[in-house]
Amino acid sequence: MKLGLIGCGGIARNRHLPALERLQSANRDRDVEITAVADAVLVNAEIAADWAAEHFGQRPRVFIDYHQMLNDVSLDAVDICLPHGLHHVAGIDAFRAGLHVVLEKPFTVTMKTGQALVAASKTAHKVLALAVPMRRLPGQRAAAWAINQARLLGTPWAFFCHDVRPRPATQRPSASPTPGGERRPIRENWRADRVMSGGAMVVDSGFHFMDSIRMLFGEVDQVYAELRGFGPDGAVSVHEGRENTAIVTFTFENGAIGSWTWSAGLVGQGAASLVLYGSEGSLEDTGTHSQYAVYHLFMNGGELTTRSGEKISLDELKERHLASLSEAEKENLFPGGVTDEFAIELHDFFEAIRSGRRPEVDGEDGLRTLALPLAVYESAYTKQAVKIAPILNRETHVYQDIIDMHWPV
Ligand SMILES: NC(=O)c1ccc[n+]([C@@H]2O[C@H](COP(=O)([O-])OP(=O)(O)OC[C@H]3O[C@@H](n4cnc5c(N)ncnc54)[C@H](O)[C@@H]3O)[C@@H](O)[C@H]2O)c1
Repeated sequence: MKLGLIGCGGIARNRHLPALERLQSANRDRDVEITAVADAVLVNAEIAADWAAEHFGQRPRVFIDYHQMLNDVSLDAVDICLPHGLHHVAGIDAFRAGLHVVLEKPFTVTMKTGQALVAASKTAHKVLALAVPMRRLPGQRAAAWAINQARLLGTPWAFFCHDVRPRPATQRPSASPTPGGERRPIRENWRADRVMSGGAMVVDSGFHFMDSIRMLFGEVDQVYAELRGFGPDGAVSVHEGRENTAIVTFTFENGAIGSWTWSAGLVGQGAASLVLYGSEGSLEDTGTHSQYAVYHLFMNGGELTTRSGEKISLDELKERHLASLSEAEKENLFPGGVTDEFAIELHDFFEAIRSGRRPEVDGEDGLRTLALPLAVYESAYTKQAVKIAPILNRETHVYQDIIDMHWPV
């Protein structure tokens, strides 16, 4: 399977390439070859190619223009690790070239661009997989199993998640997009540009939380949000995608409720905690001191407490979860015993291509998860509770309009 890598920045080099090496060391996906790499910054592509040469024994061809790569090299699939705003652009190009596509979170920057990407995958009859890693970790798998299969919490009722990490304010000096302007060249700090990023942390790292909470608690019906960008000069406006503080309430289709509250822009005392509650007990993430409780759930420990007071550690839940699986299910979730979340998501993509089955997280899932951060921005902007259904079917899109006008799809 000939794979092209588009975008050779931080995540591609630090996690995706080593993930493939992990899989191959576990005797999985040895048929996958990094055939070509592309990055607009040549040195980024060269570094990735050198790494691949050293670790896989074959140096991929190097391109600065991914269009040329799609033209010149015979590929089966591409792995897209570009700035968010280019996910749909490169994805649609790859589908038109007849390739399968895996792309990084947060899927795309708006529902319009996301729907265009899904439509292109359907027209091409090729796999579209979303690389969301956190749900693949053993701790999150076990938490999801405990809630949804073993039903150890009973009926999901509520969660409370907060994480305040005081540090010098890091709000993004977002440049307001020029209405009606042309596509602008990528600037180095693309995360500060709403056209490229779709927003700030709510859609970036927040996408991890949105994906995980859908897996753990089910589909969301509506959100209400207050966003702020606190800094030395006061609070910046809430709707321009440069928040460093969020207070969001979730209402789920099953009636459960949740509160997701975080800040990286306050000063003074920090605090972090995550507890999920159901009719029969609670599940606490006990690792919130060492990880971002609001993004990376159940990475470093947890404890379930039943109505009668019985305690079950996350390690015990992991063991019970594994014991509940057939060998085939185990191989599917942890191929060759691999627990690296990036390796697992890539393996899932390769298996979807080989077998024709849907990937665990496909384009429709990407849209459903993306609708949540976009609804959060919409709510902060309009100062109203926002339903998810009209975000999904694009009846509600005030926040997205100014981004969409830059992306002619
Ligand atoms: N799963 C995770 O936990 C995780 C973590 C970090 C980043 N990501 C995702 O990965 C993606 C990339 O993030 P990053 O942190 O690696 O960013 P980055 O800025 O380090 O890398 C982006 C790369 O894309 C290249 N690029 C930009 N425009 C290009 C173009 N037109 N053609 C070719 N190359 C181009 C840049 O030169 C850069 O090398 C983002 O969508 C981000 O959300 C995911």
